[in-house]
Amino acid sequence: MFARGVRAVALMSSFVVSISEAIQYTPLQPPSYPLAVRSPYLSAWFPGPSVGSLASTNAQFWSGDAAPLVWTVLARVDGTTYNLFGVHTPNDGTQPGEVTAATYTSTHSTFTVTAGQRSFTLDFFSPVSPKNLLRQSLPFSYLTVTLAAGDSHSVQVYSDIDSTWTGQQSDSTWSHSTNGSTRVFQITAVGTATYSQNAETEQALWGSAVYATRPGSGSSLSNQAGPLSTVRQGFIDNGTLTGSQASWTSDGVTGFAHDLGTTADQSAVTFAIGHVREESINYLGAAQTGYYRATYPETVDAVSYFLDDYDDANSESTRFDDLIQTTGSTSFGSNYSDILALSTRQVYGGIEIVIPNDSLDTSQTKAFIKEISSDGNINTVDVIYATFPIFYAPPHSHFDYQASKGYSESYAVHDLGANYPNATGHLESGESMPVEESGNLIILTYAYQAASEDTDLATTYSSQLETYAKYLSNNGLYPASQLSLNDALGALANQTNLGVKAATALAAYGKLVDDNSYLRQGRDWADQIWTDHLGTDDAGTRFLIQYGTNPWFLVFNHYADKLFGLDAFPEEAYNATSTFYPTVRDDAGVPLDGSLSWGQTNWQAAVAATVSGEARDILINDMWAYISNGLNDAPFSDRYWVKANDGASPGESYSFRARPTLGSHFSLAALSGANIWP
Ligand SMILES: *[C@@H]1O[C@H](CO)[C@@H](O)[C@H](O)[C@H]1NC(C)=O
Ligand SMILES: *[C@@H]1O[C@H](CO)[C@@H](O)[C@H](O)[C@H]1NC(C)=O
Ligand SMILES: *[C@@H]1O[C@H](CO)[C@@H](O)[C@H](O)[C@H]1NC(C)=O
Ligand SMILES: *[C@@H]1O[C@H](CO)[C@@H](O)[C@H](O)[C@H]1NC(C)=O
Ligand SMILES: *[C@@H]1O[C@H](CO)[C@@H](O)[C@H](O)[C@H]1NC(C)=O
Ligand SMILES: *[C@@H]1O[C@H](CO)[C@@H](O)[C@H](O)[C@H]1NC(C)=O
Ligand SMILES: *[C@@H]1O[C@H](CO)[C@@H](O)[C@H](O)[C@H]1NC(C)=O
Repeated sequence: MFARGVRAVALMSSFVVSISEAIQYTPLQPPSYPLAVRSPYLSAWFPGPSVGSLASTNAQFWSGDAAPLVWTVLARVDGTTYNLFGVHTPNDGTQPGEVTAATYTSTHSTFTVTAGQRSFTLDFFSPVSPKNLLRQSLPFSYLTVTLAAGDSHSVQVYSDIDSTWTGQQSDSTWSHSTNGSTRVFQITAVGTATYSQNAETEQALWGSAVYATRPGSGSSLSNQAGPLSTVRQGFIDNGTLTGSQASWTSDGVTGFAHDLGTTADQSAVTFAIGHVREESINYLGAAQTGYYRATYPETVDAVSYFLDDYDDANSESTRFDDLIQTTGSTSFGSNYSDILALSTRQVYGGIEIVIPNDSLDTSQTKAFIKEISSDGNINTVDVIYATFPIFYAPPHSHFDYQASKGYSESYAVHDLGANYPNATGHLESGESMPVEESGNLIILTYAYQAASEDTDLATTYSSQLETYAKYLSNNGLYPASQLSLNDALGALANQTNLGVKAATALAAYGKLVDDNSYLRQGRDWADQIWTDHLGTDDAGTRFLIQYGTNPWFLVFNHYADKLFGLDAFPEEAYNATSTFYPTVRDDAGVPLDGSLSWGQTNWQAAVAATVSGEARDILINDMWAYISNGLNDAPFSDRYWVKANDGASPGESYSFRARPTLGSHFSLAALSGANIWP
C-alpha cells in the first residue's frame, strides 16, 4: 500500500544526501525555513532543499520563485571573502562558505557555515510573543551573525539588501539615518498606491523596507548605498565601506560592514530587517497602524528599540521554544513537536496587530489575518477558526462589522474584505458560508471566554450571538446547499461536517449562556447524526460527506466537543472513527474524503485530537513524514497529495503555502489545557 510513496522518498533522499552529505539537520530538513516571518508583508523564507547552496541561493518572499529577495551575508577572514548567504552572483575572487548544520525551533532558523579558518552561525530569529503586543507588533526580524571562537584572524562581516523588499525594482528611493549608534537604511517604492500589492507576488508596494544594525561590542561599523558590484567590491578589497550614498539604481544595495578586528574570541553582530507601513490596514475607511506606533511613532526609533529589546526577546524565545517542544513531546512525541515548531512562526506571520492611525488608542487594538495564498481575503472567519487553538482570539472586528449598516444577514459573515489589507466590508459577490461561520463565531467566543474567563465579549455581543444560535437552530441540522470552509468541494446540501459544526456550536452556545435548551438541541442533533446514522453509513462506522451519500469524510467539526467536554457526540463516534481512518490511509496519509487524492494537514491534525491509538499515530506521523520527505520547497503547505496524481508524487504539496491556518496543528496539544504561556 505504501510502496509508491516509500520509493519516491527513498530516491529523493539519496539525491539530497549526495549533494549535502555533511549537513546536519536538526530536527529535520523542512520544505522551507522561516527567515524573517512576522507579517503578511514581512515573510522571507529559504527553501530546505537548497541549504547546501545557502551561499548562492536567494531568500524568497512567501510567494516563491517569482519573488527572490536580495539579502546577503559575506565574511572576510584574513582578507579572503566568503559568501555565506544569498549571493546569487559572486564577485570574482570570493568563495562560498560551507554549510555544516541547519536547525529550526519555533522562533529561530540557524545555519552554521565554515569560511576558511573560522566558523559562523547565521541565526534568523522572528519573535513570537503572544502576550507582549509591543514586541509582537514590531514588523522586524533579527539576523545575528556569530563568529565562533577559534584561532586568531582578522574578520569582517558584511550584509546588504535591495529594493526587491519593496515589491518592485522599477523605482525606489532610499535613505540613511541614525539613532545613537544605530544606523538605519529605508528603501521605499516611488509612485505606488497606499494599500496596493504587487499583483503577482502579493508583496506590499507601499511602506518601506528597513535594514538596521549597530556596532557589536568591540566591532566598528561602516555603511554604503550604491551599485551592488561597487559596494560589495569595496568590502572585498578593504573590509570597510565608504559611507557614501549614491542615488538609487535598480541594481543598488544598502550595505553594512562590521569590522570585528583580529580576534580569537566569539563575537556577534545583529541586524534588524523589516517592512513598515504607517497606514497598515484600511478598516472600514479608517486607517489602522501598527500597535507599536503608540510607543514608537518614528520608524528609526522603533527599529532602534527592536535592537534594544534583543536580549529580552531572545530569552523569551528560549522559554517559548522550550514550551512548544515540551508541549508537543508530552502530548504525542517528538514527531509532533517538530511539526509544531515549524508551524508557529507561519501562523503568527499571517497576522498584524494594529490600532487606529489617528488616535493611536491602544484600547482599540485589533488583529487582522490574511488568507495567504488561498485567496487573500482579510479576517476570514474560517481561517481564524483554523488558527484556533494556537490562540483563542476574540473576534471583535466581526461583531462590530456585523452590527454596522453594511451587514444585514441573519448569519455570520465570511470575511471583512476580499483583498488584504482592505477590510472595507464583505462583497456581495464574495464567499458566504452561513452555517460554518455562524458556528465558528460561537465556538471562537466560547473558546475565548473559557480560556480567559473574560465574559465581556459574550455579554457585549449577546444579541448577535443569539441571532446566530437561532440561525443554526433553524437551519443547522439540514444545511441547505452552501459552501463549507473546504470551498474546493463546492456548494453541497446536507454536509455532515456542517451539521456536526451546528450541533457542536449549539452545545457550546448552551454552555456560554447557560441555556440547557440549546445544549439539549446540540446533543440531540449529535445523536441523530451519529447514533441514528443521519450522517454515517448504515452500519455507523464512518461519517459520510453528505447525509446518506458517499464518500466518507474526515469530519473535524466536533473537535470543540472534545476540547471543551460538551458531551455532544457519543463516545462511539470517536471510537468508530479511530478504527476507521487507518483503513483508508493512502500512500502518504489520510485524504480529506474518500474521493480525493489530497489531504489537509490542518484538519488531519484536528482529527488527530478526536481519535486515539493507531489513527492518531498515523495522522501525526504521516504529517511528520510529509514535512521531512525532501520533496517540497514551499513554506509549509497545509494541502498535499496523499497518493500519486497527474504527475505529482505522494507527499508533494499542492498549491497552498504559508497559510496561517496551521494553528489547528495545535489541536492535540490544546487538550491538555489553555493559557499555558505566562
Ligand atoms: C486596496 O484598495 C486600494 C484603494 O483604496 C487599492 O489601490 C489597492 O489596490 C487595494 N489593494 C488590494 C490588495 O486590492
Ligand atoms: C579601498 O580603500 C582605498 C583607500 O581608502 C580606496 O582608495 C579604494 O577606493 C577602496 N576600494 C574600494 C573598492 O572601495
Ligand atoms: C532613539 O530610539 C529610542 C528607542 O530605542 C527612543 O526612545 C529615542 O527617543 C530615540 N532617540 C532619538 C534621539 O531619536
Ligand atoms: C496616519 O498618521 C500619520 C501621522 O499622524 C499622518 O501623517 C497620516 O496622514 C495618517 N494617515 C491617514 C490615512 O490618516
Ligand atoms: C437533506 O436531507 C434530508 C433528510 O435526508 C432530506 O429530506 C432533504 O431533502 C435533504 N436536502 C437536500 C437539499 O437535499
Ligand atoms: C471506546 O473505547 C474505549 C477505549 O478503547 C473503551 O474503553 C470504551 O468502552 C469504548 N466506548 C464505546 C462506547 O465503545
Ligand atoms: C515519526 O514518524 C515517522 C514517519 O511516519 C515514523 O517512521 C517514526 O517512527 C515516527 N517517530 C516516532 C518517534 O514516533
